[in-house]
Amino acid sequence: MKVIPLPLYHEKREGKLVLADTGFSYSEELANTASIFRDYLRKEAGISLREEKFPKINFLLDFNLRPEEYRLEISEHSLNLSARSDRGALYGVHTLIQLLEYGDGKHYFPAIYIEDAPHFSYRGFMLDIVRHFFDKREIMHLIELASFHKLNYFHLHLTDDQGFRFESEKFPRLNEIGSRRRGTILKDGTEDGIPHGGYLTKEDLREIVAHAKKFHLEIIPEIDLPGHTNAILAAYPELLCEGVNKKVEVRTSWGISKDILCAGNEKTYALLEELLLEIIEIFPSRYIHLGGDEAPKANWKNCHRCQEKIVNENLADEEALQAHFTNHFGKFLEKHGKTVIVWNDGLHPDLDPKIIIEHWKPGTRKRTVKAANSGRKVIMSDFLHLYLDYPHWMTPLAKTYAFDPLKGVEKPENILGVEAPLWTEWVASRSKIDFQVFPRLAAAAEVAWTAPELKDYENFVSRLQKLYSLYEKMGVNYARNKEKKPSILKRLAGTRRWWKDEDSEFRKN
Ligand code: ACM
Ligand code: ZN
Repeated sequence: MKVIPLPLYHEKREGKLVLADTGFSYSEELANTASIFRDYLRKEAGISLREEKFPKINFLLDFNLRPEEYRLEISEHSLNLSARSDRGALYGVHTLIQLLEYGDGKHYFPAIYIEDAPHFSYRGFMLDIVRHFFDKREIMHLIELASFHKLNYFHLHLTDDQGFRFESEKFPRLNEIGSRRRGTILKDGTEDGIPHGGYLTKEDLREIVAHAKKFHLEIIPEIDLPGHTNAILAAYPELLCEGVNKKVEVRTSWGISKDILCAGNEKTYALLEELLLEIIEIFPSRYIHLGGDEAPKANWKNCHRCQEKIVNENLADEEALQAHFTNHFGKFLEKHGKTVIVWNDGLHPDLDPKIIIEHWKPGTRKRTVKAANSGRKVIMSDFLHLYLDYPHWMTPLAKTYAFDPLKGVEKPENILGVEAPLWTEWVASRSKIDFQVFPRLAAAAEVAWTAPELKDYENFVSRLQKLYSLYEKMGVNYARNKEKKPSILKRLAGTRRWWKDEDSEFRKN
């Protein structure tokens, strides 16, 4: 049984179901997934399923199952896929795609019985389209791949210092000024002098959201606030703090900028509320990500308006001001039925308990776990295990696989799940995305989906070959030969090489 992520329960049976002039029927509620299944078989195996009344293949509705659960029963004579919803059925189809075999001139499914459901309800991937812009087509392909790994959230990092990638009709300067930078820094510290830009139009985003819906992913938009906002500040310099007498440009280099939005200026709140209304009109997701990471407070310390806000709102200091700022938009979005997520830099005693934190920052795990044990909902995106932008030397497949989201956690219900982010500072092409993401996303998916007590790295590796053959069919440039556990010395040396020459590892493939 070569399925990734590993199902909850399976039992091998005798025989196989050969696909030849095969009949198919499905509950109307599962029509979306039925069409994905049928299209896949037609395209990949040249098999056309006939609709008929007493067919061999049946997709059945079963209200006894949980929302994301599916059951699969394959014998010599029939294939029954049961689910409570189209979503559960789709996960069953992703399993079927991995079970499909070819031999003696025929396609077949081996006889098997599977009961399967995810361990965590939040299973995410994040793509940064700011540091390098990726268009609608590329995002839609990644949505399909994320769904194939049984993920259900696609976090889209839309704004940062280096660009603003959401079309705003209310604030066109965010696109005219904020969506372009004059160049991009290289690893040797020089700038390439090649203008870089782009943004997703509302039309693009509607298509992306619809595509994600078909594959049962929610797109979570991130507007990173109040730091990582040089692109907004380049377009609307009046949102800078008092006393900052310089022109902020859309940034060409990476890292942390000390220029952040003024949290004492009512114009900041007014613009962001209007912008968020544009965002929620496009994205139906229950979650909106408001960033909150890496916001240095020097400007706030020297700003009359920010200091006045601290006094008027009876806040302890600048960190409390950030919590106040986040809470303000949390309340605003709550009125529209949305829940806010922020990176765990934003964790603060004043932070509204309804706001979810996304844990990433090295050295903060204890603090995050304490928050979860005290009732805060958490998504785990641990830097050392799940950041897919770092080289395979630094974060080998085995390391990602070994991540335990529940370590030290006393209230596991507060760990919503896991997300693997891809930041794209050093990722400028779709082929490089694939190299960074796969197969580590398969390991992250198994962390998120498979019951922790069933996880076993050697067994996972034994199931990878089948996945690799499917990656090849799908045109995915996955990283080859990354299954071994390299020694710490090799890892350090390889990571150092990567910092000096980003492509040394990538070009080998
Ligand atoms: C982050 O990596 N700055 C969330
Ligand atoms: Zn200020």
